[in-house]
Amino acid sequence: MKENFYITTPIYYVNDKPHIGHAYTSIACDVMARFMRIDGRNVKFLSGTDEHGQKVEQTAAKNGTTPQKLADENSVHFRELLKTLNITNDDFIRTTEERHKQGAQAMWKAMMKSGDIYLGSYSGWYSVRDEAYYQEDELVNGKAPTGADVEWVEEPSYFFRLSAYQDRLLELYEKNPKFIDPEGRRNEVISFVKGGLKDLSISRTTFKWGIPVPGDEKHVMYVWLDALANYVTALGYPFNSTDMKDFWPADLHIVGKDILRFHAVYWPAFLMAADLPIPLRIFAHGWWTNEGQKISKSLGNVIDPNELVQSFGVDQVRYFLMREIPFGMDGDFSRDKLITRVNAELANNIGNLAQRVLSMINKNCDAKVPQYKFEDSDKKLLAFAFVQADKVRNEIIYEQHFSRALEMISQIATRANEFVDASAPWTLKKENPERMAAVLYTLAECLRRIGLLLLPFTPEAANKLLDQLAVAQEQRLFHCVGAGSALKPGTSLPAPEGLFPRLEIKTN
Ligand code: MSP
Repeated sequence: MKENFYITTPIYYVNDKPHIGHAYTSIACDVMARFMRIDGRNVKFLSGTDEHGQKVEQTAAKNGTTPQKLADENSVHFRELLKTLNITNDDFIRTTEERHKQGAQAMWKAMMKSGDIYLGSYSGWYSVRDEAYYQEDELVNGKAPTGADVEWVEEPSYFFRLSAYQDRLLELYEKNPKFIDPEGRRNEVISFVKGGLKDLSISRTTFKWGIPVPGDEKHVMYVWLDALANYVTALGYPFNSTDMKDFWPADLHIVGKDILRFHAVYWPAFLMAADLPIPLRIFAHGWWTNEGQKISKSLGNVIDPNELVQSFGVDQVRYFLMREIPFGMDGDFSRDKLITRVNAELANNIGNLAQRVLSMINKNCDAKVPQYKFEDSDKKLLAFAFVQADKVRNEIIYEQHFSRALEMISQIATRANEFVDASAPWTLKKENPERMAAVLYTLAECLRRIGLLLLPFTPEAANKLLDQLAVAQEQRLFHCVGAGSALKPGTSLPAPEGLFPRLEIKTN
């Protein structure tokens, strides 16, 4: 029986079109989902759109449309972006769908049953942009700590007794050191919770665009309670569905650092109240700036991921975003950096290795996997690739250190290129064809391992590389990275084709 693995992206607000931040979270989740699949897990990968709330309602009013129409239109853009980025999500949930509304209401009822929801009235600050409540002492120059505008809200509201969950949350963090990563973010969450938790307003009455509170339809559910519930409603909650049994609790929620508090504090408390198990891990990634500047619509520097894919290619964009900054840290986007990174590591290092090796095999070995009699240097290189593969797996599965994983894959190619130079197979052709064959075999086998490891990151090129090595589909699995599944001498290989073209810096 395969081990199950459930991973989610945040669900994206439909008040706007997708940008690089959305692409980033989705790609990271996709790398994880693809890796887990080739690692033999039964994966469920969920994405979707967050369609309720005041922000969506206000944007629709501003655009002279209805919230539902705005949601219908923009949800499609998010869905299409996932396709463009080669994201392999198994489901896409919209919070305006019936399955979600019913599930979210059921979750409310379950929380109510625990006695942790009560009616009161809220007066305080609210930021529509962040869809978040702020305490007076959190404000910075009259704005939210995020820089968003806040407004004073006074209305009847249901509250969730979050204050009662402080100790249970601290115990959760204490007992499960891998529950929140990176560590710095984990410490922030812990000190926030230690600072004392106030009860949370979980319903609104001054606008309509939300899921009605069961039994009191003047209220709509707070959009974050509605949104977080998607992770279970997509599995069929409240029904005892196979998906709920197989996939809940989630193995990994990947989110941006701005929404960690909602996932690491509110969400587990809601789940405890609803008597549901807590997810195993939440990873908060950093934020991208654009050429040193904060990305914002008002600055007009929003990066369109569709345009990036068109200009540079999908694998190239995926590679750059996963490689450029250690996952969890902030980083800066620039087209020059993308071009430099892709050219150095994909075109010059890995691409060039494939090109050299495959064309030599094509010309000198009758386009067949060559015969081999290993020498120590061959064994050493293959052992290095094997050990690296295992490290890559650990970095991905346990740490989500995607950048380090890619660096390790690139190191295999660097070593292999050094091996090409040191063994100079082109000179061996006349002097020692047997040795040439072994050198080329070793290199082809190295390429096979690189191809397998690249599958989650650059799926198109990785599959193309494995096609060129005639690796069967059913052998494109992590456990095939070792000698037991090595290339078979005599296997015919197709004509080699370039994998990663060099990108040109365009000067306008
Ligand atoms: N709707 C909520 C999430 C609800 S999940 C139950 C939301 N949506 S969002 O569309 O605003 O953001 C989605 C993701 O995009 C977040 O993880 C956020 O961190 C990420 N990013 C938005 N801008 C970003 C950057 N500039 N850089 C990196 N990621 C950023 O929040």
